[in-house]
Amino acid sequence: TDRLDLAIIAGDGIGPEVIGEAVQVLEAALPDGVELVTTEYPFGAGHYLETGEVLDDSSLEALAKHDAILLGAVGGDPADERLKGGIIERGLLLKLRFAFDHFVNLRPSAIVPGVSSPLADPGEVDFIVVREGTEGPYVGNGGVVRAGTPAEIANELSVNTAFGVERVVRDAFTRAAARPRKHLTLVHKKNVLVNAGVLWQRVVDEVATEFPEVTTDYLHVDAATIFFVTDPARFDVIVTDNLFGDILTDLAAAIAGGIGLAASGNINPTGAYPSMFEPVHGSAPDIAGQAKADPTAAVLSVALLLEHVGHPEAAARVVAAVREDLAARGTTPRSTGEVGAAIRERL
Ligand code: NAD
Ligand code: IPM
Ligand code: MN
Repeated sequence: TDRLDLAIIAGDGIGPEVIGEAVQVLEAALPDGVELVTTEYPFGAGHYLETGEVLDDSSLEALAKHDAILLGAVGGDPADERLKGGIIERGLLLKLRFAFDHFVNLRPSAIVPGVSSPLADPGEVDFIVVREGTEGPYVGNGGVVRAGTPAEIANELSVNTAFGVERVVRDAFTRAAARPRKHLTLVHKKNVLVNAGVLWQRVVDEVATEFPEVTTDYLHVDAATIFFVTDPARFDVIVTDNLFGDILTDLAAAIAGGIGLAASGNINPTGAYPSMFEPVHGSAPDIAGQAKADPTAAVLSVALLLEHVGHPEAAARVVAAVREDLAARGTTPRSTGEVGAAIRERL
């Protein structure tokens, strides 16, 4: 294509800071002749507090028309009473993931030269987590009875459909088959969450017969956290449910140089709706407005976006520029803008 029509939701806190740098990297990386058209949407906690709007259906329709969405981070101060009940997280972020059927939440991690891992001897770490994005305990299926009383019961039901599990597991196998090590690990808690666990394992076993070149294994999620710290190099592709994937990918980010480097894609592989690319991190109220945020996660999310919209060479250039910057990183702290400029210099 010779046109890239992008929706941008910069969001709250450090969101606009990192997105500002990432969009400039995108402009610099796009192949000659590709026209970038961007539309900014104001959604986030700040917009909600000003206008009362979280994300209405007409905005959803407008967003659906873009080729892809780039999102910074949304969410305000956790202590703000006006934002309680996940009004932004559920009403905006999850609404987008569900409405646009982002069933593949792709979160890669790699330790590359220059990245300082808190692990003394991590080995060759290069894995991807394929986190299910539309089901599990995130669906909002539950409720509270006798709220606020000593007899309160609060339920969150994890929904796992054969359809939903199979499509994400097949995607994970496809990704594993395309990687050198061709290994897939299912992470679940099938010794306790037996209903969903049986389904996930059965689907993995069934789909495995279509991918004889891919080896598989299984880990309970608690044991998986041990290996993330003691032997992360064992992982190639991990497939897991929405909540386990959320937790594991913050841990993955921490071992692979920090949350400031972790990129993600909320992908609808069918192309029926635009996919959405965003750093794994949130709005970081503790450092917002201080130009301290590392924009690298947002920049690497742009690389995932470029790959998805059919510009793999531009994506590879962005990744290469980031890797050069990481390799040359000293210990002197740099501002958000300095990191962005250094990456663009490498491009
Ligand atoms: P967070 O990721 O915002 O921050 C966790 C810690 O990591 C903080 O100490 C922060 O300063 C640091 N950090 C995050 N990004 C960084 C960066 N680019 N460079 C350097 N340091 C960075 O998580 P949180 O504090 O749990 O959440 C804050 C808000 O963001 C909440 O409202 C939460 O719901 C929301 N949130 C949004 C998203 C999203 O929009 N995708 C993701 C996670 C959290
Ligand atoms: C993430 C975030 C979101 C999630 C929240 C903010 C809804 O933590 O993108 O990892 O749990 O998926
Ligand atoms: Mn998370």
